[in-house]
Parts: sequence; structure tokens; C-alpha cells
Amino acid sequence: MKIELGNQKPEYFIESWPGQYDIFSHYEFTSGVPSVMFMITTLKENGKPNACLHAWSTFSGDKGGFFAVMTGLMQDTHTYKNILRDKEFCINFLDTSYYDSCIKTIEQNNEEDNELLVGGFTPEPSKVVKPPRIKEAFLTYECTLESCSDLSNSGINAMIIGKVQHVSIDEDFNNVGAICGEKSFMFNIHSPKDSKTGEGSQSAVTSLKVVRLI
Ligand SMILES: Cc1cc2nc3c(=O)[nH]c(=O)nc-3n(C[C@H](O)[C@H](O)[C@H](O)COP(=O)(O)O)c2cc1C
Repeated sequence: MKIELGNQKPEYFIESWPGQYDIFSHYEFTSGVPSVMFMITTLKENGKPNACLHAWSTFSGDKGGFFAVMTGLMQDTHTYKNILRDKEFCINFLDTSYYDSCIKTIEQNNEEDNELLVGGFTPEPSKVVKPPRIKEAFLTYECTLESCSDLSNSGINAMIIGKVQHVSIDEDFNNVGAICGEKSFMFNIHSPKDSKTGEGSQSAVTSLKVVRLI
């Protein structure tokens, strides 16, 4: 049996924390669509590195360029302000073993903090943009800001599109076996709820597993 839900949040979807359904639509929790996670690196106004764990994105392009479409960057983050100011950023893909290090940069992210050092990461100079890359990342896109829009015109989330200007990739990261494994992309499953009862708050960090080679 399928459960049908519309634009109106069901009353039994009770907030787990204040503002949950301002920052997120209730549709976010009716499914828990996995999204790849990565660290966005930017520079703070004082020149110190800023790091931001991010999900809710996709990547695609054509002969006109390759683009990182970040569909939900909160407008109250330092990252949002840094990207709008400097128009440059890096997208660093790390494997699941770095999750706790990423969280450290959320717990300690004052203006004076070098957030790469806070997370225990090694800063590495980028080739074509000013924000540093994360050396531990197996894949990094150096990006320039292509466009920015208010996702729902509510002043909460922004959709940032970055144009990839340079890529740095681990030389072993060149086949399906490497990509579908634990030392590869980290995914976010964001606390899906039972659509009939609104119960459930378990989130998960996952990696890919090959089901079939085609
Ligand atoms: C698993 C996970 C995924 C997250 N994904 C996003 C995201 O997609 N967009 C966003 O704005 N914040 C996201 N966050 C929250 C930011 O990482 C957090 O607000 C961070 O402190 C912002 O850093 P900044 O203010 O230095 O930019 C996520 C947090 C976690 C734990």
C-alpha cells in the first residue's frame, strides 16, 4: 500500500528540534533519499580556512562546463557568506572514516578557528582558486560561483551552482570497485520517518556497494 502525502505537513510529524520544519520540508523525512556528502572549503574574511559538511547536491554538465549544484546551503552559514564574497570554493569528498572529523568542524567553528586544523585535516594549496583543498580527500573540485538563488524565496536555503575549474583525484580512484567501497563516497540518510505515524529519527552514514556489474 502506498501512502499519499501532500504539501501540508501531517500533524503527527512533530518537531524533533525547534525550527525543523522551517529549515526542512516535511517531504525531506518521508523518504530519506541518500545524498552524497562532502566538505566545502572556503576562506573566512580574516583569511582562515572554513570547512562545512554538506549534502543535498548533484553534479552534471555538458560541453559548456561541469557544475556542482548545491541545492540547500543554509543562508546563515559562514560558507554561504564566504562564497558570495569570494566567489570561489572547493568541494572535497572524503570517505566515511572522516565523519567524526567533519563533525568537529561544526562543533568548533568560530571566526578565529582554522577549521581544517580543528577537524585534523591537512590543508593543501588549490591550483586555481584561493580556498585550500583537503589533502585527505580522494576527489576535490575547485569551483567558481556560477549562480546563487534563494531556493524557496524564504531566505533560508540557497541554491548555489559552482562551475568546476579544476579537479584533483586520487590515482587509484579509477574503477567501479574503488568507487563502490568503504574508502569512497560517504552518503547521508537523513532521519526518515514512518509516513503513517511520524515516528523515527534515526540517521545514517553509508557508502556504496555494487549490486550488479553492467
Ligand atoms: C550530516 C550533515 C549534513 C549537512 N548538510 C548540510 C547541507 O547540505 N547544507 C547546509 O547548509 N548545512 C548542512 N549541514 C550543517 C553544516 O555542516 C553546519 O551548519 C556547519 O556548521 C556550517 O558551517 P559554516 O557556518 O562554517 O559554513 C549538515 C550537517 C550534517 C551533520
